[in-house]
Order: sequence, then structure tokens, then C-alpha cells
Amino acid sequence: MDISELQVGFKDVYDTDATNFFFSPGRINLIGEHTDYNGGHVFPAAISLGTYAAVSPSKDNELHFFSANYPKNGEVVVSLTNLEYKKEDSWTNYLKGMFTFLDQTPDQDAYSFGLNIYIKGNLPAASGLSSSASMEMLAGIIITSMYDIEIDPLEIVQTGKQVENEYIGVNSGIMDQFAVEMGKKNQAVFLDTNTLEYKLFPINLEDMSIVIMNTNKPRNLVDGKYNERRAECEEALTRLQDVVNIESLGELDEKSFDEYCYAIGDETLIKRARHAVIENQRTIRAGEAMTNNDLQQFGRLMNASHISLEYDYEVTGIELDTLVHTAWQQDGVLGARMTGAGFGGCAIALVENDAIDNLKKEVTAAYEKATDFSPSFYITEISDGPIELF
Ligand code: GLA
Repeated sequence: MDISELQVGFKDVYDTDATNFFFSPGRINLIGEHTDYNGGHVFPAAISLGTYAAVSPSKDNELHFFSANYPKNGEVVVSLTNLEYKKEDSWTNYLKGMFTFLDQTPDQDAYSFGLNIYIKGNLPAASGLSSSASMEMLAGIIITSMYDIEIDPLEIVQTGKQVENEYIGVNSGIMDQFAVEMGKKNQAVFLDTNTLEYKLFPINLEDMSIVIMNTNKPRNLVDGKYNERRAECEEALTRLQDVVNIESLGELDEKSFDEYCYAIGDETLIKRARHAVIENQRTIRAGEAMTNNDLQQFGRLMNASHISLEYDYEVTGIELDTLVHTAWQQDGVLGARMTGAGFGGCAIALVENDAIDNLKKEVTAAYEKATDFSPSFYITEISDGPIELF
């Protein structure tokens, strides 16, 4: 996106010039789904689709927000002295939450002036590509730059998670904020969510691309299904702790899970825990496959991940399944799986470049036949974390 486009939009709304410009990416998750709140591994990457902001200091003590994506909402104005969550403030809550919690860090005074903030994103909202973490990490770079303060990136990541958990009410893990903030161009983030140790893996796709396939079925994590899965894993863990000394499901492997899962004693809970345990092991294997540049093996692990999310974790549904199953049948597709929380949103496919057109054609036909929606496709680059644009 052109800075001049942001500048013009900003001036239309605030009748003054923007002084600073920022970009914060979204993310895809290559593999390791619903493992980040179970002490497991994840393997996401920041992408070149994301959220842009044009900003200037304001003359008052207020935050002024406007989104070019939701022009009908108009300008949302909140006082810096009253940043409490309000449902009607919709998307601005992600930024308000960041202002709220970053202000509580010990060595930081209250913000000394307000801001005019104009947002424009090219990330489809509620699509499993982390538009919310993109906005949270955007707030992080806006705050550090505009108020000239230093905040450790890990603290910004953890604050984003805190916003989701305590301010928005989604009991999410740390993957999205970590991937967005720590992402690097052409590298994926292999993160152990138990220790927060991570490695950056070069993603060398050669004549292949990662194609994002959007179900265009909106999903809302606040509606409870996400939190329900998390609670099911916690219950399974509690039951396992009667027979084995573990702090998280991520500490088990296939063999130990097999030996102890009798203690869970409930079919649904066994399936949820089995996904968490095996998906974590699969993600470790996927990291090895990527290190060996074995994309065939990586693709098979992506497929296995989807199967586990479909049958054991039950977070896919007809829309995601149709996209992914149809992709599997096409020549030149090495692997495909849903990405993100599921329940709608997006899937990804690892595809040879000369097979992309056929993939789009066949997936669109099958998807329109099976559902009430049409799919969208995006081919994005793996990108850097939040940046200030000049
Ligand atoms: C959402 C959450 C993440 C993670 C994924 C599923 O994106 O925000 O923390 O749990 O779902 O892997």
C-alpha cells in the first residue's frame, strides 16, 4: 500500500497531515495448531498482508480512531483516562487494550498527549490470519515510536496475549502475537510455547508457493467454541495428572499418551488431548523436515494435521474440509490444511507454482457446489514483523 493513499485518507478524516506511518503483518501458521495453550510447539510466519496506520499527535488527551475498512463506524474517540473495554468500540478495543496494559508497566508514565490514528488493512478480518494480533502489535510500535519509549518486544507480545485474555475475553495462546512481532522475511518462527525459546527457519520454497484459501465464512472466537476447546484440554490434563506427573499436554509423546490416556475416561476429551499431543510431535517432525528441505514430508505432515483437526479436535467444518480435501486431489499440491483457530477462516496449501491456476479453478468449483460461499485466494510473502514506514 502506498503511503500517499494513507496520507490522503488521514487528511480527509482529521484535516491535518499524518506524521508517522506503520505496518504490522498478519500471520499464517504452517503447522502446530491448538498447541500453543497446551505447552506445545507452533510453526507460524508473519505475512505481507496486514494492517497499516497513519498517525499524528492530537491536541487533546484523546485517542481518535478511524478505519478505512469500517468507514460506517466513523471516528471513535476515547479519553486516555478512560480506556475500559466497550463492545460498541468494536475493533478499536484491540488497540485500547494495548494502551491500557502497556501503560501499567512500572517505568512508564501516562501518555502525555493523544493521537489521531487512521487504519487501513488488507488482511481479511475474522479469517484466521490474526487481524487482531496484527492490530495489537501495531499498537505496540505506535506506542513505542510516538511516545519515544523502549519496550522489550517480548513484553509487547505478552501484552497482546493479555489483551486477548483479560480485555477481549478470548483465552488464546501466545502464537499469533509472537509470530507477528518476531516474524522475519522469508523465515518461519519455530516456537516452543512452553519455554518461549524459538528459532527462525529459512523457508526456501523454490518453485512453490503457499496459497491461502479463504472460506469467507466469518468466525468469531469470542463466541465460545475456542474457549470450549481450551477448557476440554485443561480437563483432560487434570485427569491425566492423577496418573502421570506433567504440567502440560505438550510434555507427552505418542507413547506416553498411549499408556496414560485410559485415565481421561471420556471419548471427547481423549480426542482433544490426542490432537494436542500428536500435533505437537508432528510439529517437531515438521521442523526437522523443513531443516532437511524435505517439502514432500512437510506436505504430508500438513495433511495429517488437518485430519487430526477434523476428526479429533473437530474445528474444521464443511467449508474448510471442502477446500482442503479438494486441494489434496490436485496435481502439484504437496500439502494442505486449515490454519489458525478453525471454525471457518482460512486454509493454506503448499503448491507448485505452475499448478496454482488449476488449484484455484478446481477448489472454487467444488467449494461453490458444496457451500453457500465463494472462496478467495491470496499468495503472500513471508514478511518482517511491525515496521515504521518512511
Ligand atoms: C488462534 C489463537 C492462537 C492459537 C490458534 C490455534 O489463532 O489466537 O493462540 O491457539 O488459534 O492454533
